[in-house]
Amino acid sequence: MPDTVKALGAPTERREGPDKVTGTARYAAEYRPDGCAYAWPVPAGIARGKVTAVDDTAALSVPGVIKVLSHLNAPRLAEPDDATLAVLQDERVPHRGWYVALVVADTLEAAREGAGAVRIDYAEEDHDVTLRTDHPDAYVPEDKDGTSGEHVRGDAEAAFESAPVHVDVEYHVPPLHNHPMEPHAATAQWQDGQLTVHDSSQGATTVRDVLAALFDLPADRVTVVSEHVGGGFGSKGTPRPHVVLAAMAAHVTGRPVKLALPRRQLPAVVGHRSPTVHRLRLAAQDDATLLSVIHEVTGYTSRIKEFVETGAAATRVMYPSPHARTTHRVVPLDVPSPSWMRAPGEAPGMYALESAMDELAVELGVDPVHLRLRNDTDTEPDSAKPFSSRHLAECLEEGARRFGWAERDARPRSRVHGSVLVGSGVAAATYPVNASPSQAVAHAFPDGSYVVRVNATDIGTGARTVLAQVAADALGVPVERVRTEIGSSDLPAAPLAGGSSGTASWGWAVHEACARLAERLTRSGGKELPPEGISARADTAGTADADSDYARHAFGAHFAEVGVDTVTGEVRVRRLLGVYAAGRILNARTARSQFVGGIVMGLGMALTEGSTMDPAFGDFTESDLAGYHVPAHADVPVIEAHWIDEEDPHLNPMGSKGIGEIGIVGTAAAIGNAVYHATGVRLRELPLTPDRVL
Ligand code: MOS
Repeated sequence: MPDTVKALGAPTERREGPDKVTGTARYAAEYRPDGCAYAWPVPAGIARGKVTAVDDTAALSVPGVIKVLSHLNAPRLAEPDDATLAVLQDERVPHRGWYVALVVADTLEAAREGAGAVRIDYAEEDHDVTLRTDHPDAYVPEDKDGTSGEHVRGDAEAAFESAPVHVDVEYHVPPLHNHPMEPHAATAQWQDGQLTVHDSSQGATTVRDVLAALFDLPADRVTVVSEHVGGGFGSKGTPRPHVVLAAMAAHVTGRPVKLALPRRQLPAVVGHRSPTVHRLRLAAQDDATLLSVIHEVTGYTSRIKEFVETGAAATRVMYPSPHARTTHRVVPLDVPSPSWMRAPGEAPGMYALESAMDELAVELGVDPVHLRLRNDTDTEPDSAKPFSSRHLAECLEEGARRFGWAERDARPRSRVHGSVLVGSGVAAATYPVNASPSQAVAHAFPDGSYVVRVNATDIGTGARTVLAQVAADALGVPVERVRTEIGSSDLPAAPLAGGSSGTASWGWAVHEACARLAERLTRSGGKELPPEGISARADTAGTADADSDYARHAFGAHFAEVGVDTVTGEVRVRRLLGVYAAGRILNARTARSQFVGGIVMGLGMALTEGSTMDPAFGDFTESDLAGYHVPAHADVPVIEAHWIDEEDPHLNPMGSKGIGEIGIVGTAAAIGNAVYHATGVRLRELPLTPDRVL
C-alpha cells in the first residue's frame, strides 16, 4: 500500500506530545511579556440586585495594586450579542459570582489581596434559583435551530394511553461543571493600537471577532492566539469574561495583563450544564415495537441569556414510533448562565431515554439489546429523512459479542459475590454530524515539504496531527512532509473545536486546499518551484454548511458491568466498553483517546459528578475539585473503545463523523441500567452516590 493511502486512519502519534510532557508547550497563562501585570476579579456576593457603592481605598493601599476597575470607571464596551460578556458595564448583578470589580497589580499575590480588600455595597433583591417543573415562568422556547422547541407526531398522549405496555418515569440530572484541567486564562497586550491576546479558547477566530466588536476595532487589529488548550468541554467554545477583562485591564493600565481564573470562580462564569428533569412516557405493543414516545425536558436558563439544554433532541433521532412528542421547557432563574458541556442535550437526554428503554425492556420481558434492535430504523423518525448511514444495530451486536452479553442472566440480583451485587447494562449512543465553513491555505516548498495553515484549535485532541494526515492524504505524500500551523487568528479563519465538528470543518478546507495544490503541482509537470513555493487556498462556505437530503448522525453502544457494595453503597464500574459507528476513523490512536475520554466523563456523570444550587445563597456548593468529584484513576476500570468501519459518501471529503462527544452519550445510562440489574432497584437521580444507593 502506498504511504498516501495509509496517512488517513493510521495511529499517528500526537505531534505536540513531547512538548507537552516536557513542559515546553505554553498555555495562555504561561506567556510573560515584559512588564506584565496580574489581574484578579471580584465576584458579586449577592444572587440578585445592584451594586450601590464601590470602595477601593483599602485595595489601592495594598502594595503593588495599580488599579481597581468597576462599572464606575471601566471602559465602555459596545453591546455584545452575548450578555455574559458585558462585564463591568452597569450596576446590575444578575447572579452570584457575576464580576463586579477587577484588581490589577504588579504581582498575582497583590492582585489577589487587593481583590479581597475591595468593599462593595449592594441593594439586594429576592432571588429564585430553584428549578421546579411546575414553575410558573417555565416556557417552551422558540425552536431556533430545529432542536430546542417542541416537536409532535400523531397523537402521543392518546396512543400512550391505548398501548398495552407503558413506562411513565422521571429522571433527574444535576448541574454539571466542565472543569477543564486548564482553567480559563488570558494574557493581553496593547501595542500601537493593536491588541494581542493569548487565550485559552476552543476557537480563536471567534474570540478575535468578539473582542474587535467590543472594543470597536477592525478585526485585523486584534490577534488571538490559542496555541495549546488544556481542555474546554464546551466552556471555552465562546469567549468568556476573563478575556474581555484582561483586554480591558491592559488597555487601562498600558501594561500587558494576565488573568487566570481561580478554579472556584469557574462554575459561575464559564457556563455549566443546566440541571434537567426528564419525564418519559414510552408505550409499546406486545411485540416490543414502540407506539408512543413522550419526552418532556425541563431545565433552567439565566436571566441574561437564554440557553436550552436540548435533552429531547436525541429522542427525535433514535427510535421510530407513529406517535411522539418531544418538548423542551426552560425556567429563567437568577442562576449563572448555563451553556455547552460535552454533548449538550444528548448527554442528559440519552441518560433519560436509554434508562427508560431499559425499564420498558423489563416491562416487556425482553432483552434490552433486542428491544433496541426491534426498534431500529433507516429513517430519522422526526425528519423522515433517510439516514446517510446508521449502524446502531451493528454496534449493539458487536458490543454484545465482545462483552459476552449472551451469558448474562437477565434476572436482577442474579450475581452475588459476598456483599457485592454484580450487574451489567447496555445503552445506545448518538451524536449529530456537524460541520461549519472554514478557510485553509496549503503551501508547497521546492524541497518537497508542505505546510497547511488553518486557525484550528487543539484542545487536547491532536488536531495538528490529524490535519497533517488529511493533508498528506489529499496531496499524496508521506505525512512527515507536512507541517501544520494552527492556533492563531492570524491564520485562515476557522470555526471552533466544538460540536464534534472541528476535524470535519477544518479538514474539509485543508482537503480542498491540498487537492487544489496537488492539481497545480501536477499541471506544472514537475517543473521546479519558485524559491518561495506555491500555495492554494480553500473556503468551504456554502459547501460545509449546505443542507443535506440525509439525516447525519454517529451511533454507538455502551456496555457496563458494575459491582454494588451493599454494605457501603459504593458502585464500582468493573468493565466499560463502547462500540461506535462514526464514519471513517481518521487517526486510530487519538480517536480512541477521544472515545475513552468521553466514556470517563460519562462515568463521572453516572457516579461522582454533581453540583447543587444552594437556594439561600444562590450559588453552587461544589465549586472546586475538592467538592465536585471528577473520576480519579482509581474510579476508572480498563475501558475498551472499538469502532466498525463505516463508509458514508454523504459527509465530507474524509468521510468522517465527529467523535469528541459520543463517548459521554449513553454511558451513564449503561451504568445506571447495570446498577438496576445488580440490585433490582431503579435509581432515577444522578449521580449514583452511596447515600442514594443505600
Ligand atoms: Mo463541545 S460542548 O461542543 O465543546
